[in-house]
Amino acid sequence: MISRRSLMLGSAAAGLVSFAPSAIGQVPAVDTLPASAPTRRLSLTAQETEAKLLGPDKPATRHVCAYDGELFKIVRGRRGTRLIVDFENRLPDPTTVHWHGIRVPYLSDGVAPLTQDVVPPGGRFSYNVPLPDTGLYFFHPHCDETGQVGRGLFALLVVDDEAEDKVRFDAECFIVVKDWRLGDDGQWLEMSTEDGAANAGTFGNVRATNGQTTAPRVEAPAYGDVRVRTIVADATRVIDLGCDTDDAFMLAVDGQALPPVPFKALPDDVWRMGPAMRLDMQVRMPGPGQEVKIYDYRSSEPYLLTTLVAVDKGKHPSPLKAKALPPPRVPLPDVRKAKKLEFLIQMAAGPTIVSPSLPADDPLSKALVNSLCVGKTTHWAISRDSWAAGDALRLPPPLARLDNGASYIVSMTNVTKHMHPMHLHGHVFRVLSHSKKPKMPQYLADTVIVEPNETVDIAFKAVSGNWVFHCHILEHMDTGLMGWFKVA
Ligand code: C2O
Ligand code: CU
Repeated sequence: MISRRSLMLGSAAAGLVSFAPSAIGQVPAVDTLPASAPTRRLSLTAQETEAKLLGPDKPATRHVCAYDGELFKIVRGRRGTRLIVDFENRLPDPTTVHWHGIRVPYLSDGVAPLTQDVVPPGGRFSYNVPLPDTGLYFFHPHCDETGQVGRGLFALLVVDDEAEDKVRFDAECFIVVKDWRLGDDGQWLEMSTEDGAANAGTFGNVRATNGQTTAPRVEAPAYGDVRVRTIVADATRVIDLGCDTDDAFMLAVDGQALPPVPFKALPDDVWRMGPAMRLDMQVRMPGPGQEVKIYDYRSSEPYLLTTLVAVDKGKHPSPLKAKALPPPRVPLPDVRKAKKLEFLIQMAAGPTIVSPSLPADDPLSKALVNSLCVGKTTHWAISRDSWAAGDALRLPPPLARLDNGASYIVSMTNVTKHMHPMHLHGHVFRVLSHSKKPKMPQYLADTVIVEPNETVDIAFKAVSGNWVFHCHILEHMDTGLMGWFKVA
């Protein structure tokens, strides 16, 4: 099957038309660190590699995609520093890099065609990535995400600082939830299916934690406190994260600290996480030889994500105390003065799409066609507008035009049968309410699940830029569930 994308790629290869984003009705970009902030240069490549994803004695998978050729790479940086990332695309397809959850100036946000052109094979792009906030983030492509992320293209970005260093843990452990879609021969299956894209998404057929098909066993000091940092990097899977001890606290959501919440105070003792969502938790270890098991309780049989094994390191039992992380530094919205905007998350029904697209001769429309980052069909919409997909090469007008520095409440109502983890670029928002979960703690996030028939209200202080707002079930965003805000 020849996809529209590969056809377009073929004709584009002859001479990729280039649109400088500065030509596209741009707005001022806001830097979140002073110009004097210390900088660190980082070179980064996107490339293909081979890996034994099914296990050591199974055939290696070809065309695995990874940054610097290293699956599940972890990049660490200090808060207050700026990364200047010299990116090179060594993939055979166009790509971009999006810094999920990081408050970057929007011209480094990695969204073609809104903030940059795609980086063609062999091309380069320099990203300005200030790190104004501590926490667990990640970066991934923003073009053919279903395919590229599906084959492994993402990396963790951990931002540390002195205030956090003072909150001492006895161990740190990462849990990366990411399934694979592989045949018995170890080679990739089609990442997207019509049925998946129009429903809950296409699931991997091989479950894995940190890329391994058997749950990792991680040693940690007996009676110590472990910082467990979980991210759902999967394109589709939603998990209910929990563990088999009561001595566990939730410390940060999407990198943003909150006053610690005991897991047993959460509805069903679990925290629901969809694609792109992160959670930091504290787990108190039992005595030597004993274990703590961390599960996804959403599966029909609880799925073991990781086993923490207590080893004797000379620590003695001590009273359990929650370790509060330093409070977030993100600008907070003024909720009382905020203007409210309401949106529906719905199935796309062709004829009901009403608002006129940008005219075909608008530079942004042309750039969209040239971006090659367009999905195959349209299934989803935000308030009757779908992002360009299939033959509908229309870029919807912005969902709203916002004022830089003003506060907004975005109220989302999901009228579909499926959950949608909604992500807003460039901002960290306060989750004000979940209509179906009145007992949720107050928290900040960059991605929030809206359950079927639920209304979720978020509030944020708008920052100048062109920012997309989309579902992070990657097939949903690739088939219409994406819109954008213009903030100036
Ligand atoms: Cu992880 Cu558009 O984002
Ligand atoms: Cu969705």
